[in-house]
Amino acid sequence: MAREQSAQRWDPEGYLRNAGFVAALGEPVLALLAPRRGERVLDLGCGEGLLAARMAAAGIDVVAVDASAAMVEAARRRGIAAELMDARELSFDAEFDAVFSNAVLHWVRPPEAAIAGVRRALKPGGRFVGEFGGHGNVAAILVALLAVLSRRAINAAAHRPWYFPTAREYRGRLERAGFAVEYIELIPRPVVLPTGIEGWLETFAGPMLALAGGEQKAARAEVVELLRPALCDRDGNWTADYVRLRFCARLPEKR
Ligand code: BEZ
Repeated sequence: MAREQSAQRWDPEGYLRNAGFVAALGEPVLALLAPRRGERVLDLGCGEGLLAARMAAAGIDVVAVDASAAMVEAARRRGIAAELMDARELSFDAEFDAVFSNAVLHWVRPPEAAIAGVRRALKPGGRFVGEFGGHGNVAAILVALLAVLSRRAINAAAHRPWYFPTAREYRGRLERAGFAVEYIELIPRPVVLPTGIEGWLETFAGPMLALAGGEQKAARAEVVELLRPALCDRDGNWTADYVRLRFCARLPEKR
């Protein structure tokens, strides 16, 4: 999902080119959701709508939201009922059997705002199933960005746009909001990048590199060279050090 507020800008075509794997790797999260025909499901941060379309094709009544107008348009072009909405300001009230979210919640701060909105959106007994970046996610990439910005006397740690919690931390947040956590796990999942680290930085690191002001291009080149020994193999293939946090949590049957 888009976090326009965090200076992140989304381009549906660039996203598919540089990060098409995100939807493909969302399949196990869909399997964990196991939506049933006729259920009403909210896709929180639908992006270009590929997974929402998979659910709709299986007879699920899907409503999708995203904070990027460009992504909402792309999802609508796939026939999805998509609305422009910030994950921290969900306006639904006890209308969904489930809320599903893939590769979005690491953009959402404060995390408890999204969790509270999901809680309101769910019917009693409803489930919240999702996956996003967990503790240690893209650690090498993050360190390279911080190092290159610190060479320019920019303390980027305070501005980093991503939230990568441990399972223990996120479980606590879910439980404090009234969910029973049925499953939560950190899953290391290295991903070969289809357009290399340049493509990844283009799609995801805009808010961090923007901190370098007029030196963005040079900073980006330095990040690539710092990462090359760690993430690029002899054949020139780049692998990102992804770590996912996958979970399934449920509300009690009675409010
Ligand atoms: C991720 O999907 O893990 C991710 C996306 C953008 C920035 C950082 C991580």
